[in-house]
Amino acid sequence: MANICVKTLLPGNRFLGATNSTVYGKRGKAWFNSVKMGPPDAILGVTEAYKRDPNPNRINLGVGAYRDDNGSPWVLPSVRLAEERVVSKKLNKEYATILGIPEFYNKAIELALGKNSQVLQEKRNATAQGISGTGSLRIGSAFFNKFWDGNREVYVPNPTWGNHIPLFEHAGLTIKKYRYYDPRTCGLDFKGCLDDIKQIPEKSIIILHACAHNPTGVDPNKEQWCELSKLIKERNLYPFFDMAYQGFASGDMDHDAQAIRIFESEGHTYCLSQSFAKNMGLYGERAGAFTVACADKDEADRVTSQLKILIRALYSNPPIHGARIAGEILNDPELYGIWLKDVKLMADRIIGVRSQLKENLIKNGSTRSWEHITNQIGMFCYTGMKADQVERLSKEFSIYLTKDGRISMAGVTSKNVEYLAKAMHEVTK
Ligand SMILES: Cc1ncc(COP(=O)(O)O)c(C=O)c1O
Repeated sequence: MANICVKTLLPGNRFLGATNSTVYGKRGKAWFNSVKMGPPDAILGVTEAYKRDPNPNRINLGVGAYRDDNGSPWVLPSVRLAEERVVSKKLNKEYATILGIPEFYNKAIELALGKNSQVLQEKRNATAQGISGTGSLRIGSAFFNKFWDGNREVYVPNPTWGNHIPLFEHAGLTIKKYRYYDPRTCGLDFKGCLDDIKQIPEKSIIILHACAHNPTGVDPNKEQWCELSKLIKERNLYPFFDMAYQGFASGDMDHDAQAIRIFESEGHTYCLSQSFAKNMGLYGERAGAFTVACADKDEADRVTSQLKILIRALYSNPPIHGARIAGEILNDPELYGIWLKDVKLMADRIIGVRSQLKENLIKNGSTRSWEHITNQIGMFCYTGMKADQVERLSKEFSIYLTKDGRISMAGVTSKNVEYLAKAMHEVTK
């Protein structure tokens, strides 16, 4: 295309008055010469490799989204119905408020804390709609960056969801780890966890996966949560719950929220990020919420006012469609009932294929202990397979997963479970 300002250009594409160091190429000056190529996303890389593989038996065990027993994405019937109702209302497309859609976020926090929550009864919650789980965590990280007076270190379980680390670091906080997973048992290293928490400097922030820990699928039981609650209080630490899988883990909303409710009943103040990506299958709709459970209503009002100021500068106000769908479900008893069944169906399918995978490994003659496959819960199974075994799975069997041996159970179906078990046995014997 001809340059519109051609008269001001000198030969060699130099602008009038430009020095040699500001020579403009045909497409403009490269201001970002020093920017290095970043590594590809570990999980998206798995899907890319899967897509390139022509083997009809290929399996993608990387993706963290629910699939039905045919391996297809599933739109929940309750979500379809709710969406039809939302569309039939012919609502306008005006902005939501900075905090989002109240019919959504007020019900979202009620789902997490339960109707009898003291925090809710005393209106001590500062709640804002967030852009799904990640966006809600991001609001939290921005809030802590600005207002946290304690030790500016965020302690995450080792391992944790990969995004926790950059997410808090981008907000200017330092990430440290506490022991969580025991590779010898593929279960919880509860002693290591307690020992490490005892060493955390007081007034630090501690991240707790409320249920269905990602990537390990290893959750503390009720007694262990009670002990953690006691210790975290003694150590004067601030609990920050990340709940991305309420209902998706056990199929029971209340059970999956038990950790937060235990902490609340023990008199903690805390904060919580929620996602509706998994339990409503609203992945791309980005519906979530961030809550600070405060000491009293006055503190909650002040915190809410500051959340608004932060959100205004971050993205102004959240998207409306997914929140309207979720709000419709959470406010309508009939739709809510259908949704609970949908969630249970997803949770039960995942629990079912866990058993099938374990049984098939035994059937193939594997003498290893695979108990952890059924002891772990939620979307993921930390199999204990090593990087070289994972590589063999992809090269020899067209089965794709992350190098840490994490399987997305959502990718396992009654049709591919035998093939998967055979391949896992081959590379681990
Ligand atoms: C532990 C954890 N937190 C938060 C998220 C955020 O998910 P989203 O932003 O899709 O709601 C995820 C998703 O995988 C997760 O596993």
